[in-house]
Amino acid sequence: MKDASLNCGELMSMANNSETKTVRANNRSYKLWVVKSGKEKAPGYLAIFVDVTTEQQLVEKVKYAQQEAELALATLLPDQRVEVRLRAIVEYMDEYDALSGKIKVTGVIREGVYRHVINILRLIAELSKQGLTELPGVDKDILVQAAIFHDLAKVQPYLQPGDVVDPREAFEPGYLHAFRSASLARGIYNIDERTVNLIKYHHHEENDLPEDYPLYLLPMYRLFRLLDGLSAGITRRGSRVKLTTNGTLINVREESSFPLYNRHLELDLYSGRTSIRPLL
Ligand SMILES: [Fe+2]
Ligand SMILES: [Fe+2]
Repeated sequence: MKDASLNCGELMSMANNSETKTVRANNRSYKLWVVKSGKEKAPGYLAIFVDVTTEQQLVEKVKYAQQEAELALATLLPDQRVEVRLRAIVEYMDEYDALSGKIKVTGVIREGVYRHVINILRLIAELSKQGLTELPGVDKDILVQAAIFHDLAKVQPYLQPGDVVDPREAFEPGYLHAFRSASLARGIYNIDERTVNLIKYHHHEENDLPEDYPLYLLPMYRLFRLLDGLSAGITRRGSRVKLTTNGTLINVREESSFPLYNRHLELDLYSGRTSIRPLL
């Protein structure tokens, strides 16, 4: 981008129209706005520049990461129908009213499940970079496949912003889409039985698992449920998640614009021991 040069007339018109501009100078980006003060007959103008280079670079990085993740997902999908289906499922943003037990829809996230899958893939990539997928019983390919198929058969109600509904009536229980998605993955896409198991029980609490659930799958089952929940927070509430691992232990720092959800969580994948503390 070329360095900017603005004349007095342009600066004055920016003040009169309450406009802001981002300008480049000396390889840096500056946000510029102009304040008018003094008497109407003899006004003064004050131009203010703030260096926003770092913020801009961050936005670019996020955009790039998003494109990269989408590209990675496209190469992993078995056929176009999976992508079309994932893109077709919306997610909702809502506010929960503890008194009535109802939720108010505050926004519709188009392609919600597609984005949710991308966010899980990003978390898997982050953990794998930290070496977690080197652990016996934690397999990257199985996690990636589970991410792609786990919500494929989810069916959402048709809701509009402003609608107030009882979530237990409006939304079907999660285990139903989990079972349907597992069946599609096995029957149509011939997916590995271990992956099918992860998909099928991704809405089951650990103590509700069937007795014959393979114990060797528990670390991945725990990990997948954790990532599913974190990605839901990222997709629906704009949470920021920081993951660090130490052996079989995962540390999560989750921060969102809803302080209620802020937490610091520790999960040991092998023992299942979990501790949750509020964020300081
Ligand atoms: Fe699900
Ligand atoms: Fe999910």
